[in-house]
Amino acid sequence: MICPILKRHVLFICGYCVEYFTNVFIIKSVKTCFGGNRTMKIFAYGIRQDEQAALREWESNHPEVEVDFTDKLLDPETAKLAKGADAVDVYQQLSYTPETLTALHELGINKMSLRNVGTDNIDFDTARRFDFSISNVAVYSPNAIAEHAAIQGARVLRQTKPLDNKIANHDLRWAPTIGREVRMQTFGIIGTGHIGRVLINILKGFGAKIVAYDVYRNPELEAEGIYVDTLDELYAQADVISLHVPSLPENYHMINAESIAKMKDDVVLINVSRGDLMDIDAIVDGLDSGKIFGLAMDVYEKEVGLFNSDWSDKEFPDAKIADLIARENVLVTPHTAFYTTKAVYEMVTQSMDASLAFIKGEETPNEVKY
Ligand SMILES: NC(=O)c1ccc[n+]([C@@H]2O[C@H](COP(=O)([O-])OP(=O)(O)OC[C@H]3O[C@@H](n4cnc5c(N)ncnc54)[C@H](O)[C@@H]3O)[C@@H](O)[C@H]2O)c1
Repeated sequence: MICPILKRHVLFICGYCVEYFTNVFIIKSVKTCFGGNRTMKIFAYGIRQDEQAALREWESNHPEVEVDFTDKLLDPETAKLAKGADAVDVYQQLSYTPETLTALHELGINKMSLRNVGTDNIDFDTARRFDFSISNVAVYSPNAIAEHAAIQGARVLRQTKPLDNKIANHDLRWAPTIGREVRMQTFGIIGTGHIGRVLINILKGFGAKIVAYDVYRNPELEAEGIYVDTLDELYAQADVISLHVPSLPENYHMINAESIAKMKDDVVLINVSRGDLMDIDAIVDGLDSGKIFGLAMDVYEKEVGLFNSDWSDKEFPDAKIADLIARENVLVTPHTAFYTTKAVYEMVTQSMDASLAFIKGEETPNEVKY
């Protein structure tokens, strides 16, 4: 005969064992089978259709991480969607305001990985206050941008836009749409960082002559003897000038009426870097006077709110861009130089890797030190 107290204890211990067995073995096994062994969570904002495949691939390569996403941008309201996440992954021109960062902080989130380079839209004072770990993707595919510069520059030289227009109108005559060969040109590359260097290699393939200018010289290019000492020397020698420098106060409107006057007649200009590097009014004057043979531009000083929007059934809000797009010797692309499958893959993958490193307390080369 077992005493009632002992019986209660035996029953309690048996019950505990059953519960423990169920939790540890059965639920864990079921979770493992159905992908429920994900112990970390990353929530991604502003995910476009073209980013989804890379995101899914990253998730399947990381069974320990639950990935959820929205196409909405991160703001104080949508921050709530990240509830339960350990980190957020983002890409937007919309500012990361004190309110937005506070909303994440209130959810216990202080890890944020950007899929792009620019961090100027982050309120770093608030980020510092809440001890945010932040990463960006500084180098995703220099080739994407360099190729675009080479292709568009070659198109201007070969006059493909007027030729295509003629062909579309069933005018198949050659003249006067005669091309200039890339190999016959001297290219002036301003900025020999990641992108400028790739462009130089591409242009070498065409057989073009290169002169370059950078405030910090690359030793390998230095050994090749392609640097000139001043921008004025580059302006005097180059038939085509391509900009590959960042947007800095000292680089603001570096291409202006004064610098254009120092360039060769019939110069071709390429800007796939930042809109504010060029004084676009001075460029238009140069196009009107015939000093500038043609322009390839992927960036525009007032591009925010203009590029990556559909204007097909309404007027452009900006008469200058409408005029530039209409010109036969101007090629405008809406900041698409970066937009390749490879670059998008790298932006998604590198940012997610950085988020995971932050969660695990590991270092990432993409961390933004601020
Ligand atoms: N259109 C796009 O889709 C796209 C995508 C990525 C980057 N970008 C732009 O491309 C540009 C270059 O990017 P990167 O990755 O090659 O940068 P990077 O930092 O690797 O190289 C920039 C180089 O410019 C040099 N430099 C800075 N100011 C200079 C000046 N006044 N004169 C001469 N050299 C100067 C620096 O010393 C550096 O070597 C940046 O403006 C970036 O914003 C555009």
